[in-house]
Amino acid sequence: MIFAHRGAAGTHPENTMVAFIEAANVGADGIELDVQLTKDGEVVVIHDETVDRTTDGSGWVKDMTYRELRALNAAATWRGRYGHCPIPHLEEVLAWLAPTPLAVNIELKNSLIAYEKLEQKTIALVRRYGLEKRTILSSFNHNSMRLCRELAPDMETALLSIDPLHDPWTYVRVMKADGLHPHYRTVTAKWAAEARQRGVAVRPFTVNKRNAMKTMFSYGVDAIFTDYPQQAKQWKEETP
Ligand code: G3P
Ligand code: MG
Repeated sequence: MIFAHRGAAGTHPENTMVAFIEAANVGADGIELDVQLTKDGEVVVIHDETVDRTTDGSGWVKDMTYRELRALNAAATWRGRYGHCPIPHLEEVLAWLAPTPLAVNIELKNSLIAYEKLEQKTIALVRRYGLEKRTILSSFNHNSMRLCRELAPDMETALLSIDPLHDPWTYVRVMKADGLHPHYRTVTAKWAAEARQRGVAVRPFTVNKRNAMKTMFSYGVDAIFTDYPQQAKQWKEETP
């Protein structure tokens, strides 16, 4: 499967509705997005802990109310090409996604900041739209994924990692996760084959270059995350 990373973030403002709609238009199988909580506890879709890089504002997401955050332009770095794109609420994305065939990977961005009840709130929204079977919950915070396993045994969980994990097969079992989302550079053919044999889903991130993509497809990974879903589709078809 091809997951459009932060939407089609290579060509559209990351984690915005236009980026998600583009992913659907080019035929991606799913979208990936990042969630955090505002000061007043709303689940918003943004990658960094601060709004500085991606919007015309500055400050921490955790210190801003939903209303304050909504006034910002998440397309500010695109020189007016996409006009004003607000930071979406997770609910807005899920309401849009529900009638589409898309899957969604919701990455909980709770490594630096322990957002209170981010897991519960995210799961509740997924349930509200009946998306349990089309949702993968992931995080670099593996304790959070362990909690999600308890809260939502009917949803898929995956552990994100940048460095290779020590004894990943024991670890994934102990953490009761369904999949591993490794940095693509740490994935080898042998490792991918072992994962498949053990029934552990593997979805490397963020695969943007043609050669890397073809290598991942040839390893038979379950999915990739890419900023360029349209390109990825084409290169996937070319891979034997
Ligand atoms: O979920 C895959 C990928 O998004 C993880 O890294 O930093 O792009 O959120 P990051
Ligand atoms: Mg992410």
